[in-house]
Amino acid sequence: MKYIGVFDSGLGGLTVVRSILQKRPQENIVFFGDSLNMPYGDKTKEEITGFALHNMQVLERFDLKALVIACNTADSAAGDAVAAEAKEPVYGVVRYASQAAVKATRNKRIGVIATQATVRSGAYPRTLKQLMPDAEVFTAACPALVPLIEAGHLAKDDPQIREALDGCLPALVREGIDTLILGCTHYPLIADTIAGMYPEICLISSSDAAADIVLDSVPADPDDCGIQKIYVSSEPAFFTRKAAIFMGGLLKTDAEWYKE
Ligand code: DGL
Repeated sequence: MKYIGVFDSGLGGLTVVRSILQKRPQENIVFFGDSLNMPYGDKTKEEITGFALHNMQVLERFDLKALVIACNTADSAAGDAVAAEAKEPVYGVVRYASQAAVKATRNKRIGVIATQATVRSGAYPRTLKQLMPDAEVFTAACPALVPLIEAGHLAKDDPQIREALDGCLPALVREGIDTLILGCTHYPLIADTIAGMYPEICLISSSDAAADIVLDSVPADPDDCGIQKIYVSSEPAFFTRKAAIFMGGLLKTDAEWYKE
């Protein structure tokens, strides 16, 4: 039985799993959330690379048809290192979100919101400029968002989410962006709030963009039967409760504690 392996620093990567299963419910998925080391967004490149390679090794204990780096922070810091070591094709969110953004923009002014480590890495501007050399790219870190989303502030127009967005988005909007990459696994969960605040801006979900490419590249197998395995590196009960909120009815299993 072959699986699409997906890893993230924690819960947020389930937005990629959700997007895959919405389009192909019978796909077999093994997910590893490194909840013990979450968040990655305030860690160094060296630390994140170590975690990412470990996450790859955890998933490679399963028979993988593809490995998806759902975490923007891990892909920005360590996508190349993982691709160099992995035994199966690797799909990272940064490239696919960037491809979707250059397709969407009309004025070639693209904004990116992400964690501090993703912004510091320069991975999005680098990738976007490779794809569209005359693009202008504006990035902003929004460190307040991940903890709020993890704490369940998911309702449209949640006041604390709006306040956090007011701290990072106006500077990008003033630059005249017409497209905004939600460059973090968690941000698709607050897309409705962002869309309500800035209806004229086209939002690109890095999670949906990656899921689309993975499903285009990995053909459905008639033997796939929708097996789900979810592992985490710390206490799983909390993760399972939150995962049900992130995934809605698509979640079929509890998270298990991954032990070496
Ligand atoms: N998964 C991370 C990302 O997509 C966000 C959470 C973290 O900081 O670990 O960038």
